[in-house]
Amino acid sequence: MSKSPLQGAVIGYGFISSKGHIPAYLERAKSRGDVQIIAIVDTCEARREIAKKALPEARIYATADALYAAEKQNLDFVDISTPPCDHAKLAHQALDLGLHVLCEKPLTATLEEAKSLLEHANRVGRVLFPCHNYKHAPVVKKIREVINSGKIGKVRSLALSTYRNTHAKGVTEWNTHWRRQFQYSGGGIAMDHGSHSFYLTFDWLGAYPTAVTAKMTNLEPEKYDTEDNFSCVLTFPNGLANAQLTWTAGVRKVGYTIQGDQGAITVEDDNIEVAIMK
Ligand SMILES: NC(=O)c1ccc[n+]([C@@H]2O[C@H](COP(=O)([O-])OP(=O)(O)OC[C@H]3O[C@@H](n4cnc5c(N)ncnc54)[C@H](O)[C@@H]3O)[C@@H](O)[C@H]2O)c1
Repeated sequence: MSKSPLQGAVIGYGFISSKGHIPAYLERAKSRGDVQIIAIVDTCEARREIAKKALPEARIYATADALYAAEKQNLDFVDISTPPCDHAKLAHQALDLGLHVLCEKPLTATLEEAKSLLEHANRVGRVLFPCHNYKHAPVVKKIREVINSGKIGKVRSLALSTYRNTHAKGVTEWNTHWRRQFQYSGGGIAMDHGSHSFYLTFDWLGAYPTAVTAKMTNLEPEKYDTEDNFSCVLTFPNGLANAQLTWTAGVRKVGYTIQGDQGAITVEDDNIEVAIMK
């Protein structure tokens, strides 16, 4: 039975959990009082030290096994914020113990792992919730509102571009460049930022793709083994989506165009324009 407040543990106290998840849980605990983070797990000693200072009331563990040995009875959910290579293993372990799972994107590093996790969550009747947070960004909510209003008609064609001048970095105390190391990330920018682009296309076209054509490059093969540029066309039953992602741009920028049969939405970073056919 769920406790009130819901009690959770965060696994991986790196960039996103320390700057995003934990502050949001603390805010929510203050405003609504319905959630409490009682434990943090991190395999890196330096990160455990930082976690201890940031959350003096939380119990700190070096492994998920140690967490469950001590806290199994006290937990309702875990929040998995480690690199993708460990998402599936950690999520299966939590589901086996009857816990709900919030998991950072990409949900898993392979399709087979994702299918197996979904099947597991359905079988045990627990929530498996991926962090698809871009859906909640103000500009993306506005896009959804315009699509729902019917003003641009039926969405038929999408273009999404993500320009970055470097790969995203993890905390310096652990392995800053893990996104460029296949064994940790399962892929480069397509896996990292691409996951946001892809769930947005599924949402805006209201369907899943039936075919994918893609090209990628790695401009630093002597240093890294994941792609830094990725370009693809996704074919949907009701339209097409074009996504271009780069970690080697001279600017940091995001752009979306959403073409409907009656008009279009254009987004540049946080600016949105809607054009309607007269
Ligand atoms: N949704 C978003 O907008 C967003 C943004 C940034 C990162 N992320 C995702 O969050 C996850 C973490 O990324 P990050 O940038 O915070 O990485 P990070 O390198 O900053 O942090 C990872 C932390 O996990 C710890 N760790 C590694 N393996 C572990 C394990 N098996 N058990 C416990 N701890 C472990 C490391 O010591 C480190 O402290 C990734 O899946 C990434 O894609 C999502």
